Amino acid sequence: MEDLYNDIAKIYDEVGIDKFSISFGNAMLKYFDTMHPDENFKKNLDFCCGTGTLCGFFKDNGIETKGVDISGEMLNIARNNYPDIEFVEQDIARYLDDETYDFITCIDDAFNHIVDIDDAKKVIKNLNNLLRVNGLFILDINNFNLLPTYVQDESIDKSINEYSKLKYYLSNEEDLFRFDLEYYENNELIWETSVFERNYLIDELTKIFNDEGFVLESCSQHLFDEVRYEKWKIIFKKVE
Ligand SMILES: C[S@@+](CC[C@H](N)C(=O)[O-])C[C@H]1O[C@@H](n2cnc3c(N)ncnc32)[C@H](O)[C@@H]1O
Repeated sequence: MEDLYNDIAKIYDEVGIDKFSISFGNAMLKYFDTMHPDENFKKNLDFCCGTGTLCGFFKDNGIETKGVDISGEMLNIARNNYPDIEFVEQDIARYLDDETYDFITCIDDAFNHIVDIDDAKKVIKNLNNLLRVNGLFILDINNFNLLPTYVQDESIDKSINEYSKLKYYLSNEEDLFRFDLEYYENNELIWETSVFERNYLIDELTKIFNDEGFVLESCSQHLFDEVRYEKWKIIFKKVE
């Protein structure tokens, strides 16, 4: 996992992968204003923060934020982009902190990267220690059946600029799906890698969260103006 993101870090923002953070960030602010107008959501921890775009968005909107990610190279970009924000290199299943947060985010299918269900349980237990009572955990997940048919079992070429491109191929293997990625410069293969994501089902995930003292507050394919319908946007509330 670290290897993939250490490779992809340099092109991540250029490909525009981070842009989803901004539209989802805007949808979250609307959600707080509409659904929790009398509550404070001013302190954020961003799990799997990548190049830090969502943290930067929150800071620009007056929200205190901190990012955690396992990839040193993604964090190098994040620290370079946002020198005033704290970023911690750590696996989210093992992350420790003395502070508590109003909301914790984990976006752009980052949670799908936790393929082992026991690791997912560790992450959720950890969230319980890090959130205040009534605090929110906000994530999105990919589900193989919701992904557009044009990315299923077909190879996609994505041009980055005139001399480089990313090629990816997505396939489904039982409860996992697999991305095979190849990066080319001047038609020469520079690196290739495969990454697995767990095909989480909403009921399965909700049961694990319920067991750890969370309730499902919202689950939708569209959250306000955020319309990447292939991603379930999910909000769990800590109630204990
Ligand atoms: C698809 S990127 C999403 C990055 C960012 N949230 C965004 O919206 O642009 C997934 C990120 O999850 C990180 N990641 C994956 N597994 C992790 C883990 N167990 N602990 C911390 N970070 C992890 C990767 O290093 C990568 O930066």
